[in-house]
Amino acid sequence: MAHDDASPINDIRTCPLAEINAFDPAILNDPFPYFARLREEAPVFRDPKTGIVSISTYDLIMEVNRQPGVFSNDFGSQLQSGSGAAPDPEEVAIASKGWAVPPTMLTADPPAHTRYRKLAGKAFTYKRAEEKADYIAKVTNDLIDTFIDDGACEFKSAFANHLPMTVIADSLGAPRSDMDRFHRWSDAFIVQLGGVSDRETRLEASRRIVEFQHYFVDRIEEKRRNPTADVISDLVHADLADEGDPRKMEHPELLSILQQLLVAGNETTAHSLTAGLFYLISNPDQMEKVLADPGLIDGFVEETLRFLTPSNNMWRVAKQDAEIGGVPIRKNELILVRYGSANRDAGHFSDPDRFDVSRENARSHLAFGAGIHTCIAAPLARKEMQVAFPILLERLKNPRFAKGLNSFSYAPNVLLRGVQELHIEFDK
Ligand code: HEM
Repeated sequence: MAHDDASPINDIRTCPLAEINAFDPAILNDPFPYFARLREEAPVFRDPKTGIVSISTYDLIMEVNRQPGVFSNDFGSQLQSGSGAAPDPEEVAIASKGWAVPPTMLTADPPAHTRYRKLAGKAFTYKRAEEKADYIAKVTNDLIDTFIDDGACEFKSAFANHLPMTVIADSLGAPRSDMDRFHRWSDAFIVQLGGVSDRETRLEASRRIVEFQHYFVDRIEEKRRNPTADVISDLVHADLADEGDPRKMEHPELLSILQQLLVAGNETTAHSLTAGLFYLISNPDQMEKVLADPGLIDGFVEETLRFLTPSNNMWRVAKQDAEIGGVPIRKNELILVRYGSANRDAGHFSDPDRFDVSRENARSHLAFGAGIHTCIAAPLARKEMQVAFPILLERLKNPRFAKGLNSFSYAPNVLLRGVQELHIEFDK
């Protein structure tokens, strides 16, 4: 998106790297000029203001992700202590009404990571995603029915938020009538993840998270008594091979996994669906190509994931002294692997800032990460997009931006990236 001359983004092209606030809302809105400078000047960059080390090239991020024993995903406590702020007593009091959850998948290292991932992975195989195609098509059509007669909608809230949430709620075996609460809880976790909210918003998020926990402990208890064919039941009754001694998972472990499935799967997919339509409308030549050749849908989906990279950045913490790209890393240092930057690295993708649905190596993007933490539900997320887009393009004819309603601003979040709203009009 274009920025006006007064925008701090202009300084990003000239200001010394060490003086740039990497979490400035203008950078979160459009990180790519900053990423380009990081890749060119310091692919491993220790920010003197925060001590955080950024890794920004494709090859170096792959190198980090190949060494989970050195560059750990168990970053929760380091993030807390690294912020230097004492825990807010009111937040602690609210959280004490719920459960302290242990690291499981995203935030765990082997061997614990391996054990949890093996169990949860059964629900998200390629085959399971393939089998959901007709069901995803039905949910897509039902959602479009709710707004098609209006000839206009805000696409993210009318469609993109609902498809992934419905798919997750149905897979978990939670009633669709509770969907509004799911959205509220997912938003609360995103506030916690984003790290840029005011105190009242954080306290409210903590209250909602405790509400989420009580709700799911009730569901877990229900499924313990009466197993049904869904992911919660599977997890509740599965045997966790805990150091050779199989056992059922406890409430905090189950809550940790359920929270990751709810949050990791919702906003990322919603942003990707919104971005796909946004990019096609912005690039009429690419829209024409996709409409003329449905065989390009898969390539378009991969290019959308590359171009947006909804999980734009991800944390790691160094478990020991190490070295990456010739730069020494010290034990306990916090690292940001910048997937959004890797996906614009000209060393891997030619003409990387061009949106090209025919790009041959688009699928090698790092939008789903790489290595042992590669997105567990990548087949499902891909399937949702691959099924939804042909239906959307068939039913919402001649989609275009609604005049005067779009700011095309991105949610202010360090880890997640996506436009907050997309107002469109279309012919029925
Ligand atoms: C377009 C949609 C999605 C994107 C872009 C995405 C992105 C990612 C990325 C980048 C990671 C790796 C994080 C790391 O490097 O540490 C990840 C992991 C994960 N994702 Fe996704 N994700 C998506 C959809 C989903 C869905 C639909 C679900 C669940 C229903 C899900 C659940 C998870 C979980 C549980 C992990 C942790 C896996 C592990 O640590 O072993 N994601 N995702």
